[in-house]
Amino acid sequence: MKILVTGGLGFIGSHTVVELQNEGFEVVIIDDCSNATEKVLDGIVAITGKLPLFEKLDLKERDKVESFFKKHDDIEGVIHFAASKAVGESVEKPLLYYENNIGTLVYILKELSQKAKSSFIFSSSCTVYGQADQMPITEDAPVKVAESPYGNTKQIGEEIIADTCKVTPSLNAIALRYFNPMGAHPSVEIGELPVGVPQNLVPFITQTAVGMRKELSVFGDDYPTEDGTCVRDYIHVVDLAKAHVVALKRLLDSKNDSNYEVFNVGTGTGSTVLQVINSFEKVSGQKLNYKIVARRAGDITTAYADTTKANAILGWKAQSTLDQAMESAWNWEQKIRK
Ligand code: UD1
Repeated sequence: MKILVTGGLGFIGSHTVVELQNEGFEVVIIDDCSNATEKVLDGIVAITGKLPLFEKLDLKERDKVESFFKKHDDIEGVIHFAASKAVGESVEKPLLYYENNIGTLVYILKELSQKAKSSFIFSSSCTVYGQADQMPITEDAPVKVAESPYGNTKQIGEEIIADTCKVTPSLNAIALRYFNPMGAHPSVEIGELPVGVPQNLVPFITQTAVGMRKELSVFGDDYPTEDGTCVRDYIHVVDLAKAHVVALKRLLDSKNDSNYEVFNVGTGTGSTVLQVINSFEKVSGQKLNYKIVARRAGDITTAYADTTKANAILGWKAQSTLDQAMESAWNWEQKIRK
């Protein structure tokens, strides 16, 4: 069964390609390599023994998207990762984000709407909840006004899919709302490759530890949490990748209850920034150079998932602990800096 993975050379995309190939799916990747390299294919081959099909293509070029779907008219499912994801950049360049994240989604949905049956998995984010009023966050928690154009593209993306599904019974879609992905494949053949200075906590920690960054700034220790630092739900990228495969199978096997569904994908456990640093120090056996600085604008205090729905309906549960995920992130960082 042929599955299209857009953004399949990226962090979450590459790990999902591995899990799909491990399950016997034939994978075709589209990636424009704007934030990834073709070398990732070598890592995928090293793990799975199989080279996925790959087309370097910019999904903003509608005619090329059309020709791609004509050429691969046997695609049965699409997992759509390709998107821009830097929150700060999205504030500076909103139209770039709306074009990249919304324009391309529309093109793909137009193609899928013409098929007799199609299955579509969308990368959404817990960012749609903003600062939720209750923890853990269930899928019924209200979507809050987006803090950034990036966050808005996830909200609008979900609405576009929901609206399209309403009038397109042949289109079956699931939006997965990710909490905070981290870590790397245990083989350390693939992992996170942030371009420039990492914005996310874990790659900043590991880059500081190998000496690429002087110190980690902890953004605020005066939040109303157990140690004053923000709480997030850090999920091992392999667990997250596996959630995509089970969600896709649910659609391919027509087991879905409606043709548009939403699931949280997290561990259900919240960790503070200081607990994440502590985990790093434990698994690496070294002290991390960090200092407490002012809060970062736009940060919420606490977000962790209620995963009951994914556990019960998808039969999926995150397996890795924070320490295991951290160990893989640390092994990966050391490998790529050799
Ligand atoms: C961030 C984005 C979110 C996006 C997600 C994707 C912001 C405000 N939010 O979420 O919209 O969906 O990434 O992965 O950018 N931290 C530090 N020092 C650092 C980096 C982070 O203390 O150098 C802290 C943050 O304050 C936060 C936690 O670490 O409490 C996690 O930060 P990060 O990895 O950026 O993720 P989010 O803020 O949850």
